[in-house]
Amino acid sequence: MCGSNSTSSSSASNVVTEAAAGRTMIIGSMGFIGRFVAEASLGSGRPTYLLVQSGPTSPSKAAILKSLQDKGAIIIHGSIGNRELMEKVLREHKIEVVISAVGGDRILDQLVLVDAIKAVGTVKRFLPSEFGHDIDRADPVEPGLTMYKEKREVRRWTEAAGIPYTYICCNSIAAWPYHDNTHPADVLPPLDLFHIYGDGSVKAYFVAGTDIGKFTIKAIDDVRTINKSLHFQPSCNLLNINELASLWEKKIMRTLPKVIVSEDDLLSAAKDMIIPQSIVASLTHDIFIKGCQVNYSLDKNTDVEVCSLYPDTPFRTMEECFDDFVTRINHVEAPKVVENPITSTKDAIISSKPESLAITAA
Ligand SMILES: NC(=O)c1ccc[n+]([C@@H]2O[C@H](COP(=O)([O-])OP(=O)(O)OC[C@H]3O[C@@H](n4cnc5c(N)ncnc54)[C@H](OP(=O)(O)O)[C@@H]3O)[C@@H](O)[C@H]2O)c1
Repeated sequence: MCGSNSTSSSSASNVVTEAAAGRTMIIGSMGFIGRFVAEASLGSGRPTYLLVQSGPTSPSKAAILKSLQDKGAIIIHGSIGNRELMEKVLREHKIEVVISAVGGDRILDQLVLVDAIKAVGTVKRFLPSEFGHDIDRADPVEPGLTMYKEKREVRRWTEAAGIPYTYICCNSIAAWPYHDNTHPADVLPPLDLFHIYGDGSVKAYFVAGTDIGKFTIKAIDDVRTINKSLHFQPSCNLLNINELASLWEKKIMRTLPKVIVSEDDLLSAAKDMIIPQSIVASLTHDIFIKGCQVNYSLDKNTDVEVCSLYPDTPFRTMEECFDDFVTRINHVEAPKVVENPITSTKDAIISSKPESLAITAA
């Protein structure tokens, strides 16, 4: 269901399939995706343990940690690369669900975690760090392909270990899909010009970070998602980049120039091998040129789709997500530091309120 004004109610099927909330450990809760998952887990009232590597390395991470602790999170210090510690933590805290949201550069660290989960033998569900495409189907050019091969290796290791799993294939985060920024929801959509990939007609699914967290947490207690890939395909948020640009123009009440970024431009940015920008360029090529989110059917018996499983639970629409960005423009009074953007240009965009942009959400 699309739109957050809709009333949420549990369907009969959800009632029979959901079990009592078990102790859940989240890895990477101070990261971009992990924070949404941690917030949703705490919001659902389940006992939530956060594995944190060491003391927070920046004031903003310290603030995130404090806010999660204030909501009841229990902090455990350690790294998933330490098998002995992981086994001890899983046993002592009787962890039943493990959700990993480590970044793309730490994917293989999860092999040790899988070994620890297997040795302990009491974890009822493991969600490896996926949170993107179905990496057994999508086939991006390098350097995105290397990350996908690593994610595939973690899948195969988990399956061989016999650990119950769910793979979260949530597609794109709801934001302007910059081809050089791994965390586009941290920055505003364009205020100067649009980059349009190819002819701008290839569609993709956009999902709000809060919905990624919400449906991930719903899925971990649901027997229908055991050993499945959970696909996020909300029809209201299936948009191509031309449609996305029109929607944003409506919100900011002006039109912006459009510059075509061709297939060759994206392939060339991928070939530059500047990490992580080139990884994002290769994935942008896969999404908006090759159509990797829409060029397959859910025809495997391991596929489940989130709107079919939870028809009564609303998704936030792109309209609503863009309204949030407009609110951010109107509330940015003083320069602010944004942690994750890769390019300094985009830092500058969000860190000051353009004089001409006192706008209201349409
Ligand atoms: N669908 C999308 O649009 C989208 C967008 C971005 C990412 N993703 C995917 O989402 C997943 C998470 O990526 P992200 O960008 O959110 O990651 P991120 O922001 O880099 O955060 C990663 C988190 O993992 C923690 N971590 C890393 N190694 C660890 C270890 N050995 N032990 C314990 N904690 C560890 C980090 O801790 P520190 O804070 O201590 O470093 C950090 O909190 C990835 O699979 C990525 O591909 C999807």
